[in-house]
Amino acid sequence: MERVINLNINQERYKVIARPHESLLDILRNRLGLTGTKECCNEGDCGACTVIMGGRAVNACLVLAMEAEGEEIFTVEGLAQGTHLHPLQEAFMKFGGFQCGFCTPGMLMSAKALLDENPEPTEEEIRKGISGNLCRCTGYVKIIESIKEAALSMKGGQKSEQE
Ligand code: FES
Ligand code: FES
Repeated sequence: MERVINLNINQERYKVIARPHESLLDILRNRLGLTGTKECCNEGDCGACTVIMGGRAVNACLVLAMEAEGEEIFTVEGLAQGTHLHPLQEAFMKFGGFQCGFCTPGMLMSAKALLDENPEPTEEEIRKGISGNLCRCTGYVKIIESIKEAALSMKGGQKSEQE
């Protein structure tokens, strides 16, 4: 039976009516207009719908909206602070971490969950961190480089494109 649920998304509170079968992804995109989170396979295979819930990257298509009640949820819309892009967004732009961009919101959220837990990941740990996110365009090399660069910049390191 449908009921009103309270969601905490990007540190804002929302009240929405949810039906038992509706996913968090349905609610984000269709009710709240948070369409940065992408819908693709709807089966947990591609990672396009990745958001952070309770500090972990999850596939929003596999989370029932009712299960998300009371959890702290972050979507790609919550990454930038006003006009300041998150270092991951800056690095993806600077180092070519996307082409068509369809996988990018999910990649960014998986990468953020990784760096929140492990600010200095090895390349292998980065690969593992984004292993649930499929990209048809880039071959992953530039995505991994972008995440490495974001990690460096978040800890105050510097690296130029010429290095
Ligand atoms: S749309 Fe959720 S994993 Fe593909
Ligand atoms: S940039 Fe096109 S799917 Fe990743």
